Amino acid sequence: MKQLLITGGAGFIGSHLIRLLVNKYPNYHIYNLDKLTYAGNLENLKDIENKPNYTFIKGDIVDTDFINDLFASHSFNGVIHLAAESHVDRSIDSPLEFIYTNIVGTANLLNAARTAWKDDMENRRFFHVSTDEVYGSLGDTGAFTETTPYDPHSPYSASKASSDHLVRAYHDTYGLDIVISNCSNNYGSHQFPEKLIPLFVNNILNNKSLPVYGKGVNVRDWLYVEDHAKAIDLIYHKGKKGETYNIGGNNEWKNIDLIEKLIEITDELLQRPKGQSRQLITFVTDRAGHDLRYAIDANKVKNELSWEPEIHFDEGFRKTVQWYLENEEWLKNVTSGDYQKYYDKMYNNR
Ligand code: NAD
Ligand code: TYD
Repeated sequence: MKQLLITGGAGFIGSHLIRLLVNKYPNYHIYNLDKLTYAGNLENLKDIENKPNYTFIKGDIVDTDFINDLFASHSFNGVIHLAAESHVDRSIDSPLEFIYTNIVGTANLLNAARTAWKDDMENRRFFHVSTDEVYGSLGDTGAFTETTPYDPHSPYSASKASSDHLVRAYHDTYGLDIVISNCSNNYGSHQFPEKLIPLFVNNILNNKSLPVYGKGVNVRDWLYVEDHAKAIDLIYHKGKKGETYNIGGNNEWKNIDLIEKLIEITDELLQRPKGQSRQLITFVTDRAGHDLRYAIDANKVKNELSWEPEIHFDEGFRKTVQWYLENEEWLKNVTSGDYQKYYDKMYNNR
């Protein structure tokens, strides 16, 4: 049985990836290593938590001894590393957390993998799940390719860029089999309501204002989270050693246009008068260093691995809004911090 370590599996993308892998590969044992920060929620994995090929491990990737012990006591065939501090606004407020988790944490995992695998590197792979934000900001035209020079602007993107460099260095220096993916903005269920889409749905639900940064003209490329999980599965199994793959939805939206669409669908599903929640829009001071536009050229993953997004935006977006509206309890729990108190009690008492 293959042993696969996923880090950050209790978060948004990680939980979708774990659900996919646990169900698709009964012959793999999937270990989910997660610190359960505010963004990690085991509720996200309720449907698969009792599967015989799944084990949750609570732990911090920044803790070097713990990570070394974990690799020494297990025989992992591979790592898919997603654990990270992931929200740009928090990185502006508290950059050090990002540097510890995203840089030091990644270095700990690389080092432990190199040490544990050094006598048998064959068929062992380290996959770093990264972001398009490492490439910086685009003007009105063009798209990021795998050879676009790195130009990060926020502490978040700088920490992810730094960890990408470390991952490549472990390939070039020690021959570690690595792959990296740089993906655009994901949307879907179970995303913490600090990110644009779940935050705005939650605020509409609670008649709170919708804070649009600057003039709302920034552009993001949106990909359905399950399509991202499928791309990760494919790249992990079929991607070429040492390579980077850009992943995107080919689906660019100016923030204000996306927000208009979100308001329309949310009002419709809540049976409120059409466009009523538009009055909640409040233009606020722009995010510091706010990247204007991200766009992905995903031709490499399409041509080499035949990956393309499967879910059309209209379908995925409506499903997403619907999920948050049907899971108000989940939203309440994660915003009230009740679940965090529960974990603190449960794990600190052990
Ligand atoms: P998330 O914030 O929802 O989840 C992060 C998970 O990592 C949480 O479960 C958290 O508890 C865990 N974690 C944080 N610090 C940890 C630590 N020190 N030790 C162990 N676990 C820790 O993030 P997400 O949106 O699911 O993103 C996952 C990965 O994908 C990140 O690496 C992110 O940079 C990358 N990514 C995200 C997007 C996006 O749109 N969300 C796009 C491209 C790439
Ligand atoms: P976000 O979901 O934080 O993702 P990222 O910053 O990683 O792209 O934000 C998406 C876009 O929405 C980004 O341009 C910032 C903007 N935004 C707002 O205008 N208001 C908000 O309250 C948030 C959270 C984001």
